[in-house]
Amino acid sequence: MTTPLRGLPMAVPEAGLPARVRIHEVGARDGLQNEKTTVPTEVKAEFVRRLADAGLTTIEATSFVHPKWVPQLADAEALFPLVADLPADLPVLVPNERGLDRALALGATRVAVFASATESFARANLNRTVDESLAMFAPVVARAKEAGGHVRGYLSMCFGDPWEGAVPVEQVVRVCRALRDLGCDELSLGDTIGVATPGHVTALLTALNEAGLPTGTLGVHFHDTYGQALANTLAALRHGVTTVDASAGGLGGCPFAKSATGNLATEDLVWMLQGLGIDTGVDLGRLVATSVWMADRLGRPSPSRTVRALSPAPSHEDTGAARDIEDRQGPRAHKEQ
Ligand code: HMG
Ligand code: MG
Repeated sequence: MTTPLRGLPMAVPEAGLPARVRIHEVGARDGLQNEKTTVPTEVKAEFVRRLADAGLTTIEATSFVHPKWVPQLADAEALFPLVADLPADLPVLVPNERGLDRALALGATRVAVFASATESFARANLNRTVDESLAMFAPVVARAKEAGGHVRGYLSMCFGDPWEGAVPVEQVVRVCRALRDLGCDELSLGDTIGVATPGHVTALLTALNEAGLPTGTLGVHFHDTYGQALANTLAALRHGVTTVDASAGGLGGCPFAKSATGNLATEDLVWMLQGLGIDTGVDLGRLVATSVWMADRLGRPSPSRTVRALSPAPSHEDTGAARDIEDRQGPRAHKEQ
């Protein structure tokens, strides 16, 4: 079937998979940090608002990092108050106490620190060794928890590194345990350059379980460089993972990791999850409309296969494609099915 009924896949559940998946939307952060041009603050705020309206409940809003390192997100102070009232969790990245101070001053208590499994990327991304960066995170995690916050610990380069090549599983397990011991509430396993394959995902999750890290505390963060992100996600779901990171329209990459390309597109993820009968709370029509709108703002089409399949016209021209999709599907059409 090439034209699915009302833009949705037929739901055929697979036994053993979770009933519900929480999507951790990273488009406004991982996506926009990688744009060559800086997106105006108002456009970012509208993007976040539309993502919330599409039903996403965890939307990573921005980063309180050094503005010279990531100028695309230097407007964090201006952006956060514009979206703070949305009915969604709005985690922000903070690398150090200076970043945490900036976040707490705005009432942002859901924060994420971001470590690396490899020394090369720790140096490139944080100007620190792996252990120095863990020492930098320790007071951030402690103070965020004292403030009643929730802390996510990202770990990059879990499956491969552009400078060091293959990354041994033991190396990943060591840093994951260290993040857990600092007090992180959840971990996100990053395939920063998109080289993972499904067997590797299963092997890493199994090794982490054996090291005392329960699957319920682990999320996955795949980039789609080699087209493996959905296959890797399915492997993680079969292992019991229920938190999956994705980026609306497949925006993304990492300015400090050569060969990092876009994240798993949220639309591609939602298409697969709906087809598996897994609840996400996301309205695919509204989400596609949001990514078409954002692609229009960025002046180039979304790389997401699902966005392209559901867009009636090239998404880089403001052709009203988003409105057409909503007209065809009606608001929140999938909930009726
Ligand atoms: P540094 O140059 O070593 O900083 O950078 P420093 O600690 O030496 O401080 C130098 C100056 O910067 C000081 O000012 C600090 O106050 C100031 P001075 O005293 O000289 O006037 N400073 C700050 N100002 C504002 N906000 C701050 C801040 N921190 C220090 N937070 C630093 C170290 C960690 C700051 C820097 O390396 C940095 O900002 N790195 C962020 C890089 C980044 O955002 N990368 C992308 C996100 S990670 C990612 O994308 C991967 C992920 O998606 C998962 C995956 O795919 O794998 C999460
Ligand atoms: Mg990333």
